[in-house]
Amino acid sequence: MPNKPMPITSITQAAAFLIAISALSTAAFAQQKSSQDAINEYRQSLQDGNPADLNAARGEALWKTKAGPKNASLEACDLGLGAGKVKGVAAVLPKYFADTGKVMDVESRLVHCMVTLQGAKREDFKSSTVFSGEGAKATVMEDLVAYVYDESREISISVPQDHAEEKAAYARGKQAFYFKGGPYDFSCASCHSEDGKRIRLQDLPNLTKPGPAQAAFSQWPAYRVSQGALRTMQWRLYDCFRQQRFPELQYLSQTSVDLITFMGVNANGGKMAAPAIKR
Ligand code: HEC
Repeated sequence: MPNKPMPITSITQAAAFLIAISALSTAAFAQQKSSQDAINEYRQSLQDGNPADLNAARGEALWKTKAGPKNASLEACDLGLGAGKVKGVAAVLPKYFADTGKVMDVESRLVHCMVTLQGAKREDFKSSTVFSGEGAKATVMEDLVAYVYDESREISISVPQDHAEEKAAYARGKQAFYFKGGPYDFSCASCHSEDGKRIRLQDLPNLTKPGPAQAAFSQWPAYRVSQGALRTMQWRLYDCFRQQRFPELQYLSQTSVDLITFMGVNANGGKMAAPAIKR
């Protein structure tokens, strides 16, 4: 894809973000309630123009374009609801796939299709190649992810727990969520299992409760205004591992898929709203 200039809307939004941030640090001295109101208002104003729409449009074109050593498009890819079906898949993943014998999330399955259909090399997909730099051109994976999630908007989350492997993934994901370690003896739960917890001005959603668990699962991937980039669910976990001072989370690792399964099942009944736009 040609390198597109940064859209005007996102430049304006980035400026609005900086203004909002400086306004917020002043507000922090006043009272927490009003700064939270300001954040909510700011979030609301962001929904009007989401640069992730551009990612999704590029992703759709990439999906249909022949590429790779096998010169094939991804249109025959089975993301879980049958070959070539994209609509709704993000609401039912991670799920078990008989052809690989594994539970796979959206990103794992996309890589699987790029490898099997297009002849891409599995080892070429790692956090250093898949996650774009701040403000840099989006990667092919980020655009494809945006497209796939965009096609599941408004669809009810229904991450399955039928197959034994799906239940095992959930159980391991739960264990990983509560597993404490690292220099601060942190688990995911240390930051994400209480109401009203925050770091600096950021709310830390209580991911053990249905409401915030649904919001978190349904809104990722998201366009991060502060980074000028679309960030995937795998990135979200990678960055939380970093905040937890854990060893680097490997892209598409078993632990990453298990954690996404745990969060997805806990979010069942919510409605997909990704890619969202976040600070
Ligand atoms: C040291 C604290 C800390 C730990 C430990 C931590 N996170 Fe986070 N998490 C954050 C912060 C900060 C954010 C971003 C909040 C924001 O940007 O508004 C976040 C955001 C998230 C979100 C997105 C929520 C949303 O609604 O957008 C998810 C999902 C998440 N974390 C999952 C996890 C998981 C799973 C783990 C364990 C592997 C984990 N986190 C460990 C601090 C932490």
